[in-house]
Amino acid sequence: MERQNVLVIGQGAREHALCQALAMSPWVDKMWASPGNPGMAELAHLDAREGLSAWLNLAQEANALTVVGPEVPLAAGLSDALRARGLAVVGPSRAGARLESSKSYAKEVMRQCGIPTARSMTVDGLDAVKALVASEWGLPVVIKEDGLAQGKGVFVITNEGQWQRFLGQARENQGPFIVEEYLEGREISVEVFTNGRDYVWLPPAVDHKRLSADQESPNTGGMGAYSPVPWLSQSQCQTIDRQILEPIVGYLGEQSIDYRGVLYVGLMMTTSGPYVLEFNVRLGDPEAEVVLPLLADDLYPWLAELAQGRLLKSKIADTGKRAVGVVMAAEGYPEHPVAGRTLEISTRVPGTRIFQAGTEMVDGHLRSRGGRVLTVVGLGDDFSEARAIAYRQISAVEFPGAQFRDDIAEDLSKHG
Ligand code: AMP
Ligand code: GLY
Repeated sequence: MERQNVLVIGQGAREHALCQALAMSPWVDKMWASPGNPGMAELAHLDAREGLSAWLNLAQEANALTVVGPEVPLAAGLSDALRARGLAVVGPSRAGARLESSKSYAKEVMRQCGIPTARSMTVDGLDAVKALVASEWGLPVVIKEDGLAQGKGVFVITNEGQWQRFLGQARENQGPFIVEEYLEGREISVEVFTNGRDYVWLPPAVDHKRLSADQESPNTGGMGAYSPVPWLSQSQCQTIDRQILEPIVGYLGEQSIDYRGVLYVGLMMTTSGPYVLEFNVRLGDPEAEVVLPLLADDLYPWLAELAQGRLLKSKIADTGKRAVGVVMAAEGYPEHPVAGRTLEISTRVPGTRIFQAGTEMVDGHLRSRGGRVLTVVGLGDDFSEARAIAYRQISAVEFPGAQFRDDIAEDLSKHG
């Protein structure tokens, strides 16, 4: 194998984690990131040009393997366009990306494949939602906007107050909506590398979607994660294989959907087994920030093979460590994030990684410029160590007004 150039598309902490994993590979020659962020600038050349045609040109000029971080360019057909020019890319085709970009399509596929998921109905407008909830469905209920909403178009409504709040917010968006049965259980994020025929598990992870531990707090893009998941049993993994992963990957193959990348399955583990909440067609964020640092295998050969439609091996090696990642978000996130705060990282705690997302460099100073600003990850031999060092590192970050959860992986650290 020859050393290769790599282009990472995206600008979040997930893409920073991808850059960091790839920067450790002896096979990676030069690395570009577009648009990138100041953290990625320490590892890669940044190119601020954004959009499909800019990325096509950049990939061609750099003669790079392209790794697509976020879902939006995938749904817009970036992988198809790169492949049409003979360029290597990790990321599903536009047809594959529909599993994430259209929730109603994903539901239809699950129905066809017999994959367990919440009962649901797609309706046109708010009036139809009201009628349905008033007549048959009642509360609790879950209402989702169709299309890409980055974790924010989902309303979990278990009481009258939340219903009224939904009605207030939903007025701006007249649908279509998906009305869904409320599922109770523990959530887990299962991510696999797949070529649309076979798949290999990455270490599973748990995200923390709410802004705070308070169940009334808003849903966010994700406020922290841990990996692996000690409470997930071998037999639960086998059920996930049999009931979910084998049928969905089988479907991609039968339909000849070009899928070379990551499939992310958001699951609710209920008392009657795993139910799919959502498919995503890329690594999770913040899941990537805890999963990638656990890998013992060099990431590059996996991605290079995946781009050619092959899986490197039947299993991916991990270090056996535990990872706890805590997101530091801006004051006012998610509704009204405040930008422009100066960030100072006085001490670097050994065993931690700091991945940047909504940051910018202004006159040599790191500043916040978005909602989720940093993901601070602690790696340890057990969860209590990983968690302790993550929070020790957070105390050494000066970030006025930062919001972060203090309970990430709290329940696990008690058991080691
Ligand atoms: P989604 O973007 O569809 O994964 O939804 C975002 C979050 O809403 C999920 O991570 C869950 O916490 C919650 N959620 C979504 N669907 C349901 C459901 N049917 N029952 C209970 N909670 C749900
Ligand atoms: N952490 C959830 C997501 O990436 O969609």
